[in-house]
Amino acid sequence: MGTVVLTMKASVIEMFLVLLVTGIHSNKETTKKIKRLKFNVPQINCDVKAGKIINPEFIVKCPAGCQDPKYHVYGTDVYASYSSVCGAAVHSGVLDNSGGKILVRKVAGQSGYKGSYSNGVQSLSLPRWRESFIVSESKPQKGVTYPSALTYSSSKSPAAKAGETTKAYERPSVPGTTPQPVTLTQVVAVTTADASHTTLPKPSPFAASTASSPRPQPAGHRSREMGLWSTPTYTSSQNRPGANPGVQRQDASGAAFQKPVGADVSLGEMDFWKPGLVLLDAGFVPKEELSTQSLEPVSLGDPNCKVDLSFLIDGSSSIGKRRFRIQKQFLADVAQALDIGPVGPLMGVVQYGDNPATHFNLRTHTNSRDLKTAIEKISQRGGLANAGRAISFVTKNFFSKANGNRGGPPNVAVVLVDGWPTDKVEEASRLARESGINIFFIAIEGAVENEKQYVLEPNFVNKAVCRTNGFYSFHVQSWFGLHKTLQPLVKRVCDAERLACSKTCLNSADVGFVIDGSSSVGTGNFRTVLQFVANLSREFEISDTDTRVGAVQYTYEQRLEFGFDRYSSKADVLGALKRVGYWSGGTSTGAAIHYALEQLFKKSKPNKRKLMILITDGRSYDDVRIPALAAHLKGVITYAVGVAWAAQEELEVIATHPARDHSFFVDDFDNLYQYVPRIIQNICTEFNSQPRN
Ligand SMILES: *[C@@H]1O[C@H](CO)[C@@H](O)[C@H](O)[C@H]1NC(C)=O
Repeated sequence: MGTVVLTMKASVIEMFLVLLVTGIHSNKETTKKIKRLKFNVPQINCDVKAGKIINPEFIVKCPAGCQDPKYHVYGTDVYASYSSVCGAAVHSGVLDNSGGKILVRKVAGQSGYKGSYSNGVQSLSLPRWRESFIVSESKPQKGVTYPSALTYSSSKSPAAKAGETTKAYERPSVPGTTPQPVTLTQVVAVTTADASHTTLPKPSPFAASTASSPRPQPAGHRSREMGLWSTPTYTSSQNRPGANPGVQRQDASGAAFQKPVGADVSLGEMDFWKPGLVLLDAGFVPKEELSTQSLEPVSLGDPNCKVDLSFLIDGSSSIGKRRFRIQKQFLADVAQALDIGPVGPLMGVVQYGDNPATHFNLRTHTNSRDLKTAIEKISQRGGLANAGRAISFVTKNFFSKANGNRGGPPNVAVVLVDGWPTDKVEEASRLARESGINIFFIAIEGAVENEKQYVLEPNFVNKAVCRTNGFYSFHVQSWFGLHKTLQPLVKRVCDAERLACSKTCLNSADVGFVIDGSSSVGTGNFRTVLQFVANLSREFEISDTDTRVGAVQYTYEQRLEFGFDRYSSKADVLGALKRVGYWSGGTSTGAAIHYALEQLFKKSKPNKRKLMILITDGRSYDDVRIPALAAHLKGVITYAVGVAWAAQEELEVIATHPARDHSFFVDDFDNLYQYVPRIIQNICTEFNSQPRN
């Protein structure tokens, strides 16, 4: 509510300023002069997002080809300013895919945007955004002057921020054009922005919270012995059981540790306007304004890298004092390179030994300088290297709202491991990924050939991270080479586009098909239904850790064709579907839903989205109302697909609300195939519209 009020307030201020500015300039001569000048319609590319353009109202020319799904659009009729301007124009029907002129007007942010499919463009849902826009045909309004050049909020690298406050408002000089009039709209844009930053909160709004203090731990039992480097506190570790003189490591010379120049890291071009920017809901504020508005020298953070980060550092005895220091130095350099701050990345640190402990959470230190100072003071805990336990701890505790998790930005956990962990990490990492945490592993000085026998979980890095060509893992030969991973690490954790691997609409569900095998369907049509089920299944990423598929067939009776844990590959699921035999009999859809809840979904894993897709060709003999309600209450998202004699109102009862997104009707089995993309799209739209945890 507060957001809405604030935004409304901002637009009232804006209107007032328009009047004021109009008053100042209402000198008739000036107005006439502007009108007489020729109006050039600026041209933009398909990928230009409305948030990048500061002008509150403008006419632009879009090129052809903006229907491409790569130009993301959020909302319907009213679009979040994070959307492609021209993509939204095609979606709204104002433009076709051959381009043309459109009129764009900025309006207030909404508390939610609904995705929809129209004019060949699938728009996505978005929980909320601070600014929106609407698109209409380019009919210039009388009395409104449209800018012949647009004002963009520039997105320079964070290093180039200082002293550029006014840059964003200078009209870009377009070569080869006649001198342009200073239009009223541009003046308004500047004034509005100036006005709104007075409502901005001061930086560092988070109160420091208590960090648990590390305490010395008893000696660990990792087979690898690091006697030479052990701190005096842990000298007893030299007598650890299982210690093997053959795996003793040498002190790797006194080579000076090369400090990387972190501040110069140039981050990938990313859009500033990401969801969850709670602090800035008061209105549309160009980012340069934000970064330099404060008189204090403290940065508000790099807005191009909005992530919530947790670093899990290895504090086990075997790492040794010196390597622990290198690890801290690396952490400090990462903090510096990331440019920590409330509108950019936030970062917390957890140290693990026998048990994990949080040194600081996401709101403890909200700028790089304070973080670096605090990192200096971290002392080693000692003990084992229970990274798996630490990952579970982070999943359960670290990314809570109370710890400063912002909800919108991606959650990222970076695990540093010296050698190998002393417990298993696979299952803990899977659970972390399934709860939306992107896990990175940096394995330093991994086991050499004669050490491999001591590694509890061979290949632990690959088991822990998403299987995407090494994007989520680093293998570093020596602690002295760790600094070389700094720049690639920073680049990857800031790459919001690619941080989608952890949990997507296609890899995180238990999908249960409930298939009508009644006599009215007939053998041929039953094969078509199975093909439809197979085509839907094919769209998902299927494995025991990704999406799983199960199936129930029903008539008067029900039978489990296969449960979620039966098959762990797409090929096996598709093979099993081919072998499903047509049953033939009555149609008790209500009992079938009840059965699916008991026999399929009861065995669904926690954290999995439960999707039921029911296909029927007729009216049920029994009541569907109560079983359907039970499914909805149990969090099973239910899609109902009816063919031929199916009763639409019954489908709507079975389907999850809103029924128009979850129920489908086709008059003929031969047309079923058309609903495959529709259903997948709706599943993904719904998934994307839900807040990440
Ligand atoms: C399934 O997919 C195949 C291959 O794309 C297609 O030919 C067939 O019509 C589809 N059938 C259904 C029922 O979706």
